[in-house]
Amino acid sequence: MSDEALYDQQVIAFLEELWGDGFLSPGGVDEVHRILKGVSIKGKTVIDIGCGSGACAVLLAKEYGAKSVVGIDVEKPVCDAAVDRVQVDGASEKVTIRLVEPGPLPFGNEDIDIVFSKDSIIHIPDKETLAFEVYRVLKPGGYFLASDWLISHDHKPSPEMAEYLEAEGLDFAMASPARYEKAIKTAGFVEVELVNRNSWYAEVARAELEWLLGNKKNKLIEKYGKEFINHQINAWSKMVPVLSSGEHCPHHIRARKPF
Ligand SMILES: C[S@@+](CC[C@H](N)C(=O)[O-])C[C@H]1O[C@@H](n2cnc3c(N)ncnc32)[C@H](O)[C@@H]1O
Repeated sequence: MSDEALYDQQVIAFLEELWGDGFLSPGGVDEVHRILKGVSIKGKTVIDIGCGSGACAVLLAKEYGAKSVVGIDVEKPVCDAAVDRVQVDGASEKVTIRLVEPGPLPFGNEDIDIVFSKDSIIHIPDKETLAFEVYRVLKPGGYFLASDWLISHDHKPSPEMAEYLEAEGLDFAMASPARYEKAIKTAGFVEVELVNRNSWYAEVARAELEWLLGNKKNKLIEKYGKEFINHQINAWSKMVPVLSSGEHCPHHIRARKPF
């Protein structure tokens, strides 16, 4: 675990201003709803990989009736923010937040009913090992329900994509839908479904860039500093074209461990 948090307090505050309290990824409640669609998690044990500042974990417990949710994350500032959120939202009885090391999931074999994750696996380079780990901790019949930011192919990123990744400056390790699907099927999952969310986020990201450049810009600069906001504007300016081309393609990913 690096001492330098990628999601420090400033990043958390900015992303929450953009995406909603407790959300460090786009789409909020509506996207969580789509990820869960048709699967009841009522009374189930759930883990949230890369729980960030905690809105998803709280939502899974309070709105969807999970029996328990353990949110895990590798960065301390987001875990601290998530712990606060859980407390403020009165979800402490059901939701636990754990700061963990990257690597094997800290759960026993066949412990968990549902493994959830929203836009966090992008930070985990080894999708194949992760798929085996998710399979290992799930009970038979359990679901893996996730969203993540993917790249449309497994070749060298286009120059535009390379520029975007550099502008983000995060440790993104994007993989293609084909690689994900293979990893998940090889781990033993069935009922594997991937849904491309590119057209939705391409439009949303354009609006986000307009918001960054619009009449709130000066207020944002006052609050977060010029360098920080210019960094975000640069990242969004480079993200919009790779969303438009389809090379950057957020997906929903769902799979089931057979009985
Ligand atoms: C884009 S944020 C999404 C957070 C949250 N799921 C949400 O939707 O608001 C990605 C999160 O993944 C976490 N993360 C990075 N590497 C991780 C790993 N190896 N295991 C678990 N979480 C990780 C980051 O610290 C960050 O909180």
